[in-house]
Amino acid sequence: MASKDHKKAVAANLAVFNSEFAIKYDGKESQQTLALLFVKHLLEYNFTNPTSRKSPSETSTPIGDASKPHSGFTVDSSLPDPKTYLEKHPSSIFKPGMKLLDFACGTGIVSELFVPYIQGGELIGMDISKLFLERFNQRAEKITAENDLVMKSYEYDVLDEDKQDELKQFEGEFDAIVCTIAYHHIANYEQVTKKLASFLKSGGYLFIVDFYNEDVEEVSVGGGVSEAVLHMGGLKIDKLNHTLGDYAGLVNVSSAREFMVSIWQPESFISTHSRQVVIDKLKNGELPKRTAPDGDVEYLIDTSLIYAVGQKK
Ligand SMILES: C[S@@+](CC[C@H](N)C(=O)[O-])C[C@H]1O[C@@H](n2cnc3c(N)ncnc32)[C@H](O)[C@@H]1O
Repeated sequence: MASKDHKKAVAANLAVFNSEFAIKYDGKESQQTLALLFVKHLLEYNFTNPTSRKSPSETSTPIGDASKPHSGFTVDSSLPDPKTYLEKHPSSIFKPGMKLLDFACGTGIVSELFVPYIQGGELIGMDISKLFLERFNQRAEKITAENDLVMKSYEYDVLDEDKQDELKQFEGEFDAIVCTIAYHHIANYEQVTKKLASFLKSGGYLFIVDFYNEDVEEVSVGGGVSEAVLHMGGLKIDKLNHTLGDYAGLVNVSSAREFMVSIWQPESFISTHSRQVVIDKLKNGELPKRTAPDGDVEYLIDTSLIYAVGQKK
């Protein structure tokens, strides 16, 4: 089931995500801002008209105030109030008692933000990286001590032939699956999507959130730039729709840029994820530069995020 390319990508990703990068990951301002914005836009998603999406012009300028830490976003001021959330978003699928899978969950920095909205439910993380999952498990221990919620993780490559029997336990189990900024690391993302679709309950939603580099819509770019980053800056809108709909059999499928935000990133990120125009600005010394608290030299860039959505019949 898992191709040679898939196995190679998994090994290359483990070299990155099972390394000291895991220690730094949660402390990065960019990851904190993105996690908050991922969850905000998922919680505020329009489930009444799930395929009615924002237009390119509505999402063409960065949200927030780039001169402030985290572009001015904070958990308290930017996420919906959990006490009034369902009154304001009555059609949301994020609700108490639900079963949510955070696929490629990493350290759980995104998963954690769902906790107040899904009390009494289950929050499952799945990833290939032992080190990231150790951090997820530390989080889960603290969270489950203070909340009415099951939170646990599983270390799986969902295409691993030897694990298919074990993975059957997840079939038809989840009300929603979210996967944030991982698809551009996955070689056989079509097969992974099909597998994730099989994990959904009828009516359940799959959300693929990823970096979106508008250049990928041009035929000449978008290939792999390293063994770990298989799809430079993300996937094309048509490809995502085709994968979710025709390939994985989901309905109410749509993909669109959901928001753009200014974040601080190191050169290694920019050269493998950003638009050519941003890479050129970096080379010409035109991007704002800083030394982050962890010692990394970082540049301020505009980054687009795509949300690809599908629902199980
Ligand atoms: C950039 S991190 C994102 C982590 C988390 N979702 C977040 O938003 O902070 C990418 C994650 O994808 C995981 N990953 C890469 N390839 C994978 C695969 N084939 N199956 C599952 N997880 C994978 C990595 O181990 C890593 O945790």
